[in-house]
Amino acid sequence: MVPKRFKKPLNPFPTTGYYGPDYFCDRESETEQISNLLQNGQSCLLMGKRRLGKTALIQHILHFLPKNWGYLYLDILPTENENQLLNALATALLQQFPEKDPFGKRVWAFVKTLRPTISFDQLSGIPQVSFQMTQAERPVIDLLDFLFKVDKPMVIAIDEFQQIHSYPEKNTDAWLRTAIQRLQNVSFLFSGSQETLLHELFLDPSRPFYRSASPLLLQTIDRQPYKDFIVAMFAKHGKTLPPAIADQILEWTKGHTYYVQTLCNRVFQLEKKVYEAADWKRCAQQILDESETFFLYYRTLLSTQQWKLAVAISKEDRVYAPTSKNFIHDHKLGSGATVLKSLQALIDKEIIFQDSDRESKTYYEVNDVFFTRWIQSTFPFH
Ligand SMILES: Nc1ncnc2c1ncn2[C@@H]1O[C@H](COP(=O)(O)OP(=O)(O)OP(=O)(O)O)[C@@H](O)[C@H]1O
Ligand SMILES: [Mg+2]
Repeated sequence: MVPKRFKKPLNPFPTTGYYGPDYFCDRESETEQISNLLQNGQSCLLMGKRRLGKTALIQHILHFLPKNWGYLYLDILPTENENQLLNALATALLQQFPEKDPFGKRVWAFVKTLRPTISFDQLSGIPQVSFQMTQAERPVIDLLDFLFKVDKPMVIAIDEFQQIHSYPEKNTDAWLRTAIQRLQNVSFLFSGSQETLLHELFLDPSRPFYRSASPLLLQTIDRQPYKDFIVAMFAKHGKTLPPAIADQILEWTKGHTYYVQTLCNRVFQLEKKVYEAADWKRCAQQILDESETFFLYYRTLLSTQQWKLAVAISKEDRVYAPTSKNFIHDHKLGSGATVLKSLQALIDKEIIFQDSDRESKTYYEVNDVFFTRWIQSTFPFH
């Protein structure tokens, strides 16, 4: 959904949602690149680590596209099969185009021909659509075809797209691709975080989506613009946060958007006019203390080997050779084969990610920056 006017966040460093360009840092080149592709009828694939700002970037991009275009945003993470995909698509359509608009009238009339159950949230009045179908393929294609017949350009953003991989139906990408190809007035913006799955869907020549969208791998926001943004945001609210402190915050959070936002949100809450280094450190410690129960719960979700490996990688911060003798010996991890097995399991669970540095050397890190910092402060020695 693209709200025309944004609510003011309670804190200038929101940790969920998108509140408009005033609270959004940088991403200028990504916004321009993706907007250009979409406006030229091309589809895009936005990939990136968890909590780096993919969803907020999608909202940001949609906000800057021409106002007379149609937009649809759907997050398919909660969907488990094609029928639920259909529900999500129809719900997004009805929510985006109110029945009282001229265009909305056509949308509602069309969706109703598919005979769904439409319910309304008691408080907000927001519509929710559900179908009881054994076969959702045809109605999804019909819905998309309807959009094709609409004479306005549209962008459909599908967040957490890798989810279609876990549907029990095995050829969703094949028929979806065929349906999508017919839509000449519609560009798609696919997004998701499980890089390997998205790679399989879009970069494997044997898959239907192969090369059907231009890929963009989101990175952390550059240090300087993020630093300037943080300092300016404090200044705008009559507070002085010295640039050197913003630097320390960005270093500790590794510049990873969600973690930067969470820590800045906390620091901003302190009733201070001029900040010192001790202030952010106190807030950081508070966040770690509050997260402890949660981190200990992680442990129950992992096997002993997986937990030990996650701890070991956290302690090292970044690991280039997880099967090297030294690393295994220092952290008592058993054999190389055990490490490889645990490593794959942790990557699948999105606890660890694999990336490459400037020299294209592969390394591994734990996704959750607070977890890493908690391990480092709780178990500082090997
Ligand atoms: N450029 C930005 N400037 C300021 N805040 C941002 C920016 N990008 C994202 N955020 C904030 O960071 C938080 C995480 O962003 P978002 O939810 O978009 O990440 P995500 O990559 O979609 O995460 P997930 O992988 O969990 O879906 C949100 O609170 C969002 O408001
Ligand atoms: Mg997201």
